[in-house]
Parts: sequence; C-alpha cells; structure tokens
Amino acid sequence: MIEPEDLRSHRWYGGGGLRDFSHRARSRQLGLNPEEHLGKPVIAILNTWSDINPCHLHLRERAEQVKRGVWQAGGYPLEFPVATLSETFQKPTPMLYRNLLSMEAEEILRSYPVDGAVLMGGCDKTTPALVMGATSAGLPAVFVPAGPMLRGHWRGETLGSGTDMWKYWDEKRAGTIGDAELSELERGLARSPGHCMTMGTASTMTSAVEAMGLALPGAASIPAVDSAHHRMAAASGMRIVELVWADLKITDVLTEAAYADAVTTVLALGGSTNALIHLVAMAGRGGIPLRLGDFDAAARKVPVLANIRPGGEHLMEDFYYAGGLRGLLSRIPDLLHLDRITVSGKDFGSTLDGALVHDDDVIRPRGNPVAAEGGIAVLRGNLAPDGAVIKHLAAEPRLLRHTGPAVVFEDYGDLRRRIDDPALGITEDTVLVLRGSGPIGGPGMPEYGMLPLPEHLLARGVRDLVRISDARMSGTSYGACVLHVAPESHVGGPLALVRDGDLVTLDVPGRVLRLEVTDEELAARRASWREPPPKYERGYGALYSEHITQADEGCDFDFLARAGTNPEPDPR
Ligand code: FES
Repeated sequence: MIEPEDLRSHRWYGGGGLRDFSHRARSRQLGLNPEEHLGKPVIAILNTWSDINPCHLHLRERAEQVKRGVWQAGGYPLEFPVATLSETFQKPTPMLYRNLLSMEAEEILRSYPVDGAVLMGGCDKTTPALVMGATSAGLPAVFVPAGPMLRGHWRGETLGSGTDMWKYWDEKRAGTIGDAELSELERGLARSPGHCMTMGTASTMTSAVEAMGLALPGAASIPAVDSAHHRMAAASGMRIVELVWADLKITDVLTEAAYADAVTTVLALGGSTNALIHLVAMAGRGGIPLRLGDFDAAARKVPVLANIRPGGEHLMEDFYYAGGLRGLLSRIPDLLHLDRITVSGKDFGSTLDGALVHDDDVIRPRGNPVAAEGGIAVLRGNLAPDGAVIKHLAAEPRLLRHTGPAVVFEDYGDLRRRIDDPALGITEDTVLVLRGSGPIGGPGMPEYGMLPLPEHLLARGVRDLVRISDARMSGTSYGACVLHVAPESHVGGPLALVRDGDLVTLDVPGRVLRLEVTDEELAARRASWREPPPKYERGYGALYSEHITQADEGCDFDFLARAGTNPEPDPR
C-alpha cells in the first residue's frame, strides 16, 4: 500500500511551491473544495465516446457511472475525451490511427497529474490502442469494455453486424433479394449502442483483455445496454482507486502468462485474425515477445468452443446468457495460467470460481467443439516469408488444400473496377490476389481481405474462393481469405511479383502458402520491380509511413515499440 504523499499527483498538488499553489488555485476554479480531491488518487477516464461512433454512443453516460464509483471509493475522477476510432466511418481505416490513439493515451497519462486510468473502448482498434498507450505509461489501469450491441432482427431471423451485412450484400449482387429487402435489413442490422455483436475484432479484443485480467471478471460479455453494464462501470471506478493504493500497475497484470492466455482465449472464441496484429503490438509495449508462431502452436491444441458468427451460429447476446467468457474459460482451465494476478484483486483462477455454462450449443463442451483446433492458422512459404494468416474456421473446407491460377489486382480500386469483368475468366478454382493493401501500401492495412466474388459466380451459387492479400479482414468476415501477407507488396514482398496465371498453392493443414514459380523467375521479376511512390508527402500520414512496422511485428511505430524510458514531467 502507498501513502497519499506517494501518489504521483501529489507532485502537482502537495508541495508549498508556486506551481502547487497554482494547481490548487485552478482546482478551485474547477469548482472543487480542497477536501474533495487533495490527497486522493486522481483517476483519468479515457473516453472514446463520440457522436460519430455508434459503438460507443453510451460511453458518455457510462463515464458518469465510472465517476460515481471513483468518488465512492475516495478517488478524484477526471474524464479525458480521446480520439474515437469508429470502424464504420473513419477512412481509409481506423487502423491508420490506432497508434495515434495509443500515443494520445500514453501522453495524457504522462503529462497530467494522474495516478490511475480507466480505459473506455471497444470498437475494434480502440481496445488495443488504449492498452498499448496505458502499458507504455505504466500506471495502474482498468479496462471498461463498451459491450456488444443487441442482436439484429429481420423477418424472424437474427442478424449479426458485419457478418450478415456481407452475406446479404452478396445475395443482393446474386439477385436473390432486392432493394425492398435491403431497406429492411438496413433498419434491422444494428439496433442499439454497443460494438459488433458477432465474434468480430471488438468482441475478440475486449474478451482477450478481460482474460488477461485488465477488466473485471465477466465485463466483456455484458451487452452495452444491460443494467449490469452500468454496475460494471461503477465497480470498475471503485476498483481503480483500490489498485492505485495497492500500487498494482498495468505491467504487473499484463505479463507473459497473461498474453499466453489471451492467445488461448482468442482461439477458443474462434476470434478475429486482427487479434494477431493487436496482441503482438500490445505485448511489445510491455517488452513481451509474442510471435505469430506462438499463435500457430496454440491453435493446434486449443479447441474452438464459442459457437458465434462468423465461425459459428449465435451472437454475443446469446453468449452472455449462456455464461459469457467466464463460462467459456471455465471449460479450459488446464490451458490457462490460473495463478496470475488480475485487477479484480483475485488470481485469475479464482475469478472463474462458480462460473457456469447454461447453453451447451452456444458454449460447447470440450467433447463437442465447434472445431477441434483453433480456427486460425499461420502460413509461410515463398509468397509470405514473414507469415500470413487465415481464419480457416470460416472458410469452405474444399479450399483449404487448393492450387489454382492467380488473377491479380494492383489495388482495391483496380479490384472494384474489374472484378465482374467476364474476360478475367474467374472460376471456382481461381485464386484472387490483391496487393497494395498492406500497412504502407493500403495505407493502414484496410479490411479489404474478404475480396468480393464476381457476380457471375455468385449467381451460380459460389460463395467462396481462395483470396490472398496483404490487407486485413473484418473479424465479422468469412471465407478462404489469406491475410496479412508479410512483407507487404508495397515494400517489395513477393506478393508484388505474382502475375496473372501463376499457380498458387494454399495448404492450410501443411501451413503453406506457395507461389509455383521458380526462384530464378522470381529473381528476374524482382530485378525489374520498382517501389511505388509514397502515399503521403506530409503530416501524420508521412510519419506513419516512415515508422510503421509490418503485420508480423504488430504494425506499431518503431519508436513506440522500442525499449527505453522517458523522463517524468516535473510539475514544479
Ligand atoms: Fe464498431 Fe464493429 S463497427 S465494433
């Protein structure tokens, strides 16, 4: 336990100098009496609420409940609005700005009189960004997940955000539904605040963060609009104050064992491929080596137990009623590190005590998994020397061992212009290749990886092809999509050398992605390859392009990922 004089904020308020006098005077300007806040832990609430982010629409109100908890526990809450990363609206992709939010989070925590932080996020990139920044800042922290939205509905069917949008858009292109049905779907897909309620990146990452022990037990599964979500927010506010007094820092919680359990959790959930990039980046901020090979090794022994779309059938609301993440984790205790500390104050194993599963179809027993092995595989070969990723759980099994001729698109614009051109001769055997979509080339590695199929194949009932790119894919997407090919084509990765008609082999059981072209021919093609011009000439985009790392390294900025310490500000 620490004393009030040991609080970091004491250096701003507690002395007899000019600056302390100024800080106290300005606190009175804020309307505070000294006894209300002096000597109390100052809790920064980093809130990614915005009018433009429907996934976080409730976080403005929820911050008030966090504050309630902080005050009740004897702390002093301060809300900081930080960049919202709205997966739907921000272009070219919020991934371009994940590191920017992480920098903002870190520097706010560093530069203000803050003793602990409550991190409020959920929409895809907000979770890793906040955790990355808070890890670099190194203070005590609790994550408050935004929670999933309610199920979608249409004509008696439940709809999953993202997943069913892609599905019915293909049906529209295939001509099986028309504008009237699409208009109804538009009204039924997203019915409440909260992040995507499929096992997309949002549910994957908030669940991973809870499993690591940075959120209160059970927090990530609670629907955004459930009253339990209000109570969880208040309890998180109370808990962060206790963590400050206990001096339990985020880096004490997010250990190597915690990251190993995050990987296991993602796999057991049938989670998003984006988790591979984000967890590598998050771990890197804590100096923890996490590699693609760690995911693949775990994937061979972790069963998929969550039967949630896009890899399964149900939605996050069903998952919550079935027992939520605690229920799922209680089925794989032998695969987890149970004796590590969590922000709840209990060890991880104790947080699972009493967890129950109420629906064996939503959270499958070990004897009846959705898939016996984790649904994600890491591929290597001459087409992806530094690795590529596929969520084979959500792919048609006939394509998991496949050799076919490539049809190559230079970038997403080229793809959109030509994909329906019959002259391309695309068949069920074709391998669609998209380049120019990586961390630098995209830019920002947009979620183009579920390449659309040509209309003539959709009309014939074809719903999947092998698709290869250096892009990412929404966690709500599906199909035989090989993603994150590294190095990316923009920096001369072998994807840049593929030509129409080249044979490409995908062998998921063998973990191989191979271009069936001789080394001599590839060397000749490389000799004539020219690096494309930079996407950005100035500003944040130029900074991003100069410092972003490749997908296998987490797409962090090199200057953020490296080890080192920065001086604490001297408030006096
Ligand atoms: Fe925000 Fe899917 S759009 S989580």
